Amino acid sequence: MKLYAASVTLILAATAAASPASSPCSRSNFRWVNLPAVGGGAPIQEQGTAATETHIYLLGGIPHDANNSQPAVPSTNTFEAYSFKERTWKSLTPIPKAFTHTNAAAVNGKIYLLGGLTGDGVDKIWHAVGDCFVYDIAKDKWTTLPSMPDGQGRGSSAVGISGNTIYLAGGMERLEVFENGAQTSLDIVTAYDTKSGTWSTLPSLPAPRDHVGGAIIGRRFFVVGGRDHGQPNVRNTTWTLDLDAPSRGWEAHAEMPTARGGLSMGVIGDRYIGTFGGEGNPDPASNGVYNETEVYDVKKDCWFKLPAMPHPRHGTVAASVHGRIYIPGGGILIGAGPVDTFDAFELDL
Ligand SMILES: *[C@@H]1O[C@H](CO)[C@@H](O)[C@H](O)[C@H]1NC(C)=O
Ligand SMILES: *[C@@H]1O[C@H](CO)[C@@H](O)[C@H](O)[C@H]1NC(C)=O
Ligand SMILES: *[C@@H]1O[C@H](CO)[C@@H](O)[C@H](O)[C@H]1NC(C)=O
Repeated sequence: MKLYAASVTLILAATAAASPASSPCSRSNFRWVNLPAVGGGAPIQEQGTAATETHIYLLGGIPHDANNSQPAVPSTNTFEAYSFKERTWKSLTPIPKAFTHTNAAAVNGKIYLLGGLTGDGVDKIWHAVGDCFVYDIAKDKWTTLPSMPDGQGRGSSAVGISGNTIYLAGGMERLEVFENGAQTSLDIVTAYDTKSGTWSTLPSLPAPRDHVGGAIIGRRFFVVGGRDHGQPNVRNTTWTLDLDAPSRGWEAHAEMPTARGGLSMGVIGDRYIGTFGGEGNPDPASNGVYNETEVYDVKKDCWFKLPAMPHPRHGTVAASVHGRIYIPGGGILIGAGPVDTFDAFELDL
């Protein structure tokens, strides 16, 4: 979670080299909407997020009092839901195990938790756990699912949903939160069929990614930005996989103006992908956090920049529903710095 000196100079060089080109696809009618504080005022970061038509769900994460001075990395089992109708947060039956960097998705009235990272409470190491669970919303009940196949346990993957299937691209196997600690990024791509309860493997990403954006538009799985073996090693790639012809492999598109890992990402309509914030900003005035709002036009294959986020943060997963991108919680310091900020981004189509 902390920023280490080793590759900072590389990042500075890359930033200086990347001059933002004027974009042929800009849109200016956007707005931010402030929403009721997460969990009724309980900050959260590095949680999994899932959305239905009626609610947003937050699964696990690092707890409200987490900070970088703690001797062991913390994980929580909290499970919070926000009702669009009531405009309130409610605590639900906790997830069966404490997780951070949780992979989560809502499919057919159920919330799936497919792996994540967890700590042992004794050191500053989060390691992957492939445990999977499903929550039946109507019954308010958690059930254990078979674990992810051997060697595929991970957290912080790009998550996409299409039909009954949940797609996970990349992810993280181990995060040692100390100087020169390992930060193991993966390139594996897998799919969980919620009907048959089976996993399958898809073509690997062109390079490893974790803390990465994921979304499906039409039948294309977009995997954007992220990092590769370490927090400062932020990336600007935009990759897609055609889920109807996966054997064609991953295709590269226009790159994000600002390379970022730990970003949050969502979709508006079937045309725009919004990317927000991130972690690993080398600017000493930034607390290590990016404030960028950058939008990708899927149709024109180009990016445009909008003004900075009003509440810059990293380490949260956004939810796209009702034409808005909702951003719950996140961190305002590099590493742990959870907040209860909840806002949403709108872009006129
Ligand atoms: C994306 O990152 C690569 C590697 O640092 C760099 O060469 C390229 O210019 C960047 N692209 C943009 C659009 O800034
Ligand atoms: C960090 O958290 C621990 C445990 O919650 C607390 O005792 C300590 O005072 C906190 N330190 C800082 C710098 O906030
Ligand atoms: C966004 O972050 C950059 C780099 O840290 C900083 O220079 C700029 O002032 C920030 N913008 C706003 C509006 O906070």
